[in-house]
Amino acid sequence: MLSGIQPTAGSFHLGNYLGAVRQWVALQESHDAFYMVVDLHAITVPQDPAELRANTRLAAAQLLAAGLDPDRCTLFVQSHVPEHAQLGWVMNCFTGFGEASRMTQFKDKSAKQGADRTTVGLFTYPILQVADILLYQADAVPVGEDQRQHIELTRDLAERFNGRYGDTFTIPAPYILKETAKIYDLQDPAVKMSKSASTPKGLINLLDEPKVSAKKIKSAVTDTDTVIRFDPEKKPGVSNLLTIYSTLTGTGIAELEQKYEGKGYGALKTDLAEVMVEWVTPFRARTQEYLDDPETLDAVLAKGAEKARAVAAETLARAYNKVGFLPAK
Ligand code: TYM
Repeated sequence: MLSGIQPTAGSFHLGNYLGAVRQWVALQESHDAFYMVVDLHAITVPQDPAELRANTRLAAAQLLAAGLDPDRCTLFVQSHVPEHAQLGWVMNCFTGFGEASRMTQFKDKSAKQGADRTTVGLFTYPILQVADILLYQADAVPVGEDQRQHIELTRDLAERFNGRYGDTFTIPAPYILKETAKIYDLQDPAVKMSKSASTPKGLINLLDEPKVSAKKIKSAVTDTDTVIRFDPEKKPGVSNLLTIYSTLTGTGIAELEQKYEGKGYGALKTDLAEVMVEWVTPFRARTQEYLDDPETLDAVLAKGAEKARAVAAETLARAYNKVGFLPAK
């Protein structure tokens, strides 16, 4: 298993947690799992150096607070393992320009930024992600739906490389849970919850004051009907709330529908707000504990980088050899 998350300013949001990080925590029990904070990817858009450093630690602290255990998985920072950039270059040379141009996340982001502000790094971003995954010979990549196309590119490039040079890379599969593949904006359930696209009221930041998050849940958009039923097409707002509720509490959707039969949206929202407060309160406290002890945090990341490098270096050496690079003596 391999996955990554960007060191965003402030806090992860609920979509990050339910769509990805929650699965990371579960999968560390059963798999050899590598999880990283992708700071190389972060600089594809402008970053303040001090903030990037702080956000990288903050991301690691949140991953630990969410339940990653450094004894059960390898948690590291991408730039601590230089092989990512090195294999990234090789994979750049196996990617068609047209192929990279078809990546929808790039098209969306670059359209928003305009051509002059869009970096070449943003264009090659998915190819660095390909390298991230292939270096660890990952069988599966736990992510949300928005990353599916990047995993498909990874499969294509791994097959291309293997086809040309013989078996080198494991072909990875996306690991995307149907229920939580896409968590939606609370104010506009037609779009996914995201830092860049959501309205402030539609986005739950995990480190916000719990009462702020509770308020956002209570003012979530539903519909003019009053029936609490899971129907993403006709009732996207209510269905999103049911997904969040069900995942955070481990209660099945059918059971929730039964529980709220004949009750209004107000009851559902009040209870979910309570569930949210109960989840975020200890999460915030644990994150703060890791932030208060940066030495321990850095030691976890140093150990993670060492373990990651051992694996990454072996794969890179194989790929370099296949390509025909003269080994350094
Ligand atoms: P990032 O940092 O944007 O998001 C981290 C994870 O959160 C998931 N996610 C969501 N899931 C459900 N609903 C949502 N509304 C939602 N919003 C975000 C994302 O799908 C992702 O799994 N390119 C990646 C980082 C990356 C990576 C990798 C991932 C770099 N290298 C290698 C896997 C493997 C990204 O920007 O994720």
